[in-house]
Amino acid sequence: MKDYKRYLITAALPYANGPVHIGHLAGVYVPADIYTRYLRQNGKDVVYICGSDEHGVPITLKAKQENVSPQDIVDRYHGMNKAAFEKFGISFDIYHRTSAPIHFETASDFFKKLHDQGEFIEKTTEQYFDVEAQQFLADRYITGTCPHCNNERAYGDQCEACGTSLNATDLKNPKSTLSGQPPILKETKHWYLPLDKYEDDLKKWILEDHTEWRSNVYGQCKSWLDMGLQPRAVSRDLDWGVPVPVKGADGKVLYVWFDAPIGYISATKELTPDWEKYWKSDDSRMIHFIGKDNIVFHCIIFPSMLKAHGEYILPDNVPANEFLNLENDKISTSRNWAVWLHEYLEEFPDKQDVLRYVLTANAPEAKDNDFTWKDFQTRNNNELVAVLGNFVNRTLVLMQKYFNGYCPPANEISEDDLAILGQIDNIKLQVEKSLEAFRIREALVEAMGLARLGNKYLAETEPWKLIKTDEKRVGEILNVCLQITANISILMDPFLPFSMEKLRSFLNIEASPWEAIGNISIIPEGHALNKPELLFDKIDDKQVEFQVEKLLATKKANETQKSTVSPAKPEITYEDFVKMDIRTATILEAEKVPKTKKLVKLLLDTGLDKRTIVSGIAEYFEPEKLIGKQVSLLANLAPRKIKGIESQGMILLAEDASGLVFVTPEVKTNNGSEVK
Ligand code: MF3
Ligand code: ZN
Repeated sequence: MKDYKRYLITAALPYANGPVHIGHLAGVYVPADIYTRYLRQNGKDVVYICGSDEHGVPITLKAKQENVSPQDIVDRYHGMNKAAFEKFGISFDIYHRTSAPIHFETASDFFKKLHDQGEFIEKTTEQYFDVEAQQFLADRYITGTCPHCNNERAYGDQCEACGTSLNATDLKNPKSTLSGQPPILKETKHWYLPLDKYEDDLKKWILEDHTEWRSNVYGQCKSWLDMGLQPRAVSRDLDWGVPVPVKGADGKVLYVWFDAPIGYISATKELTPDWEKYWKSDDSRMIHFIGKDNIVFHCIIFPSMLKAHGEYILPDNVPANEFLNLENDKISTSRNWAVWLHEYLEEFPDKQDVLRYVLTANAPEAKDNDFTWKDFQTRNNNELVAVLGNFVNRTLVLMQKYFNGYCPPANEISEDDLAILGQIDNIKLQVEKSLEAFRIREALVEAMGLARLGNKYLAETEPWKLIKTDEKRVGEILNVCLQITANISILMDPFLPFSMEKLRSFLNIEASPWEAIGNISIIPEGHALNKPELLFDKIDDKQVEFQVEKLLATKKANETQKSTVSPAKPEITYEDFVKMDIRTATILEAEKVPKTKKLVKLLLDTGLDKRTIVSGIAEYFEPEKLIGKQVSLLANLAPRKIKGIESQGMILLAEDASGLVFVTPEVKTNNGSEVK
């Protein structure tokens, strides 16, 4: 690998339209934090950059929902998310925001430079427009049916069911999310970055020069490049964002995916006047930590922008993680299916490292993974408490008991002892190799190996038995254990920063650089330790049950309350309404229509006559139980043959997510009473 002089670590800027959850931590911020802390411990010149992504449609939609301004939304969540990351020890050098003036200026200048260099294509095309709301419908302002998988809730920019990235005009049956109405097409001018122009360079840069990238990242890039790149619009008709900084662009802003990655640059500018050395020298190494839904933006689009600009370096690696699910279901902000960091902090104060640990041990590096509270408990109790905590605790307690907390001499340590201590070097090398390849989860397993080694050593040497006969030897054994403990406090520091700081306070030592790992006399003879406490404690079944119950309650709430109400229908007149003959009727007979799943044949007393109706309700009601029930009937609907039976009208039903119910008069009325 090249000899890099400095590192520029970026973590995807989360949208400030909601609180951050465990999926964010696991996918991006914890792995990036571990890697950055490791670099810092190695004395590297590194900046770790993040901030809030405050533009884009998700934010304006949220503001509309709550009837507040977009600025109110981003102010709320920027503060909240910044605080949550801090409490989890995510050690950003800066947590900036894209609504900051320096960002507007940087993004504007970037666009202007590309514009002046003639890098854009200006094109007038027809885009969807909501007549009622008098607004163009960018991205998530439009929903419709996905042309690939027929998901009826695909968005104008993406189908979440099949993952395809879409143009709004690809959708079938498009509808505005503002008015619920089908949009019209209207001409509008936009600026396009011709990605095709960079295709050959990108192919060489990724497919030939970066074969070391994770296979999920490499594979996604390859399929984009194989499909062939198209010019991509980098502006939108919206009133929230960075205004397009050229003449004749009123009402237009930069596309959020154009301005947000420039946020990495503006944040670095805000952090240090020396920002250019990170962004503009070939001996800087830029790494983008992201989730898999961001791959194309960080590997194809942003690099094309950087190339078009000409002064900037490209990322050397883009370790994108897959997704973390929660109890076997996709994490979803709108369905409240998440473990929110601010809630976790309230419910498990001082257990930040436990979550860091579990999310790393189960990180979705190569495939989507599932977070369960049971696994959270098991990993805490069986790994943090029973392996790491247990070794450290036994060492420190025995030290107090036998040596009053003063480090005993190690003058005659045996070959075996030296062999054990020698293994620290091996573990260090393994952890380094894994971290450098961004296999963070594997690195954690290897680092835990040192605590396992310590436990094995204690089990074999049994100092608690030996103390009766050979105190000197016990001193040597505990000296070895103490050196292992001190090494753990360095090795595990990137993963468990809070606990390792605590451990160093028990040991009464300062933080050491990474290169000190392998040193077997970190704790000198006679060194006084502090009184220890437990490093980790058990999580009991009650705590787990509480969390599981909470999720069950969410699930229930989601099921009973239909998440979206269907949009309003176009206006009709009273004359339209009175054409319908709706009256009450009583069910006299009911039987399932043979060889069908849904159909029930009913005989109704309508007050006028007795007639047969076929209704698709068999999945919701048992026919026998319907007899005697009063319902509302649309009596003058043209008769229709269904499965050979003539149906003479239609029963009215109300539907929500939990199923169908009859529209029944509040009290029994005469059959044939008119509904008006
Ligand atoms: N806000 C985007 C998301 O959460 C990520 C933006 S990353 C940046 O998916 F590069 F654009 F900043
Ligand atoms: Zn789809």
